[in-house]
Amino acid sequence: MVYFDSHCHLNDEQMLVNIDEQIALLRQAGLTAALCIGYDLASSKRAVELANIYPEIYAAVGIHPDNAAECSKEAIEELRKLAQDPNVIAIGEIGLDYYWHKDPEERAAQKPVFVSQIKLADELGLPISVHARDAVEDTYRILKENNPKFGGVLHCYSGSVEMMREFLKLGLYFGFDGPITYKNAVTPKQCVRECPADRLLVETDSPYLSPTPFRGKPNNPKNIPYIVAEMARIRECDEALMNEQLWKNFKKMFRVKQ
Ligand code: NI
Repeated sequence: MVYFDSHCHLNDEQMLVNIDEQIALLRQAGLTAALCIGYDLASSKRAVELANIYPEIYAAVGIHPDNAAECSKEAIEELRKLAQDPNVIAIGEIGLDYYWHKDPEERAAQKPVFVSQIKLADELGLPISVHARDAVEDTYRILKENNPKFGGVLHCYSGSVEMMREFLKLGLYFGFDGPITYKNAVTPKQCVRECPADRLLVETDSPYLSPTPFRGKPNNPKNIPYIVAEMARIRECDEALMNEQLWKNFKKMFRVKQ
């Protein structure tokens, strides 16, 4: 089976310390592609560097809402330059985080940062990878007003089924991670079941969100098969067929020819 990871952070310090081992692990698990996602300028640069070293690595460049304060005009220009690299296939991760940011001013400041990066993606002809935590309604409003021209994925989707139906109308995809393997993850499991097959993506968000049976331990893209297996179980379909569909979706969404 051809496995891939549509959202991971091999550029995270935690994974970089033994990056060759991390890559060896994902290769052993049969992964042929992994999209390494930036969260600030430095990590975006590292994502591009990794993509130029390891053939299966692709990069996304962007500024996460946690780092919204970093997003100056110069930073956008820097992202634009980084995105010239042919290994860059998306802008991300970008979006809104109201879980860690309760201050209304901070929350308000995340919005223009999100919008300016959607516009950058539109200009560059790239899809977006969206982080939305405890901010599903505002994320929806922004994406409705600024519908990304080249599509996008709601990474680690944690909203309701009802909101998913609204996002579907905007043409978006949904990424699911380790938490769908947790017993108490009722809503994410429901979303996996209800999502149209051609809008599903699988991701690890490693080094975070390890699936069962590795919960609490550092994550690696090698754990993708556990998440695919759970998706197939939830949707009552054949695992190989599930995986084939996911791979097709990944190639379509990110315009990957592999
Ligand atoms: Ni992430």
